[in-house]
Amino acid sequence: MINLSKNTVVGSSHGKLILVGEHSVVYGKPAIALPLPLVEVKASVQSVLNDTLIIDSMYYVGPLPDLPEKMHGIAACIKETLKYLEKPAEGLIIKLESTIPLGRGLGSSAAVAIAVVRSLYAYYGRKLSKGELLELAHLAETYAHGNPSGIDTAAASSDQPIWFQKGHQIESVQIGRPFYLVVADTGRVGDTHAAVASIKNKSTINPIDTQHSIDQLGEISEQARVALAHGNVKLLGNLLNAAQDKLTTLGVSDQGLNQLVNVARDAGAIGAKLTGGGRGGCIVALAHNMNEAKSIAIALEKANARKTWYFTLTE
Ligand code: MEV
Repeated sequence: MINLSKNTVVGSSHGKLILVGEHSVVYGKPAIALPLPLVEVKASVQSVLNDTLIIDSMYYVGPLPDLPEKMHGIAACIKETLKYLEKPAEGLIIKLESTIPLGRGLGSSAAVAIAVVRSLYAYYGRKLSKGELLELAHLAETYAHGNPSGIDTAAASSDQPIWFQKGHQIESVQIGRPFYLVVADTGRVGDTHAAVASIKNKSTINPIDTQHSIDQLGEISEQARVALAHGNVKLLGNLLNAAQDKLTTLGVSDQGLNQLVNVARDAGAIGAKLTGGGRGGCIVALAHNMNEAKSIAIALEKANARKTWYFTLTE
């Protein structure tokens, strides 16, 4: 790690949590996603006398052009942002610090991109519009996910729950009463790119059934929006369970995710499902109250969840 001086400009972002609608959102269906401020990324920019741009992160420290392949998305995002700002990719150190676990469906790559874009704009004293932020951060996501819907960048840059549908204006989601959510990490990296590709492949082999599952996931999102607005916990729990069934049918859940989903339900969760790309990554569970959320989190950790978080969802 390189110690930065006080003359440093910082940009930050938080994680995201997809409540319902992952995967079907790629096919134009609506989804609901939440900001997850319990995990975050900080990007600090400082000038340095060097003819290149230095990246200082947990995974890599060195010049931008030598960034490892898994960070090529962020490299593209930095270069494009600097091009936008009409500044050269040299004479800077960008230090990345993150508490978002990588590849677990909590929006780590989107959050890094957002934090970097914000930090570079702030460093050069330039005003950043929401449109520019989404466009530049989306570049990094394209490397990470192939054909991203854009939901990760939208949720990681929002302070409120969002209703997201590709090609439509992002809408807010009404929350009729507090909802208590638990997130648990399997500890295994999911491959969103591969999971998205597997559904695409399924849709060519078995188009009717695949489309049916996608349509049903879209309907679940519509109903979940109503359940949230009306404060209907029971209905929302049932919808999370129904979404998990559809995602399992689509082949993006796995044994480890199913196990954590079952542990959460046995510990009293009203509903539970995978969140994000699946095939590793995290689950989300709905509890009746904060005490129950805590005991569900304890049960999940006993069942070897790598880490858990719980929080209250309010508007
Ligand atoms: C990944 O967080 C969400 C997916 O729906 C992919 C996407 O929307 O780009 C699986």
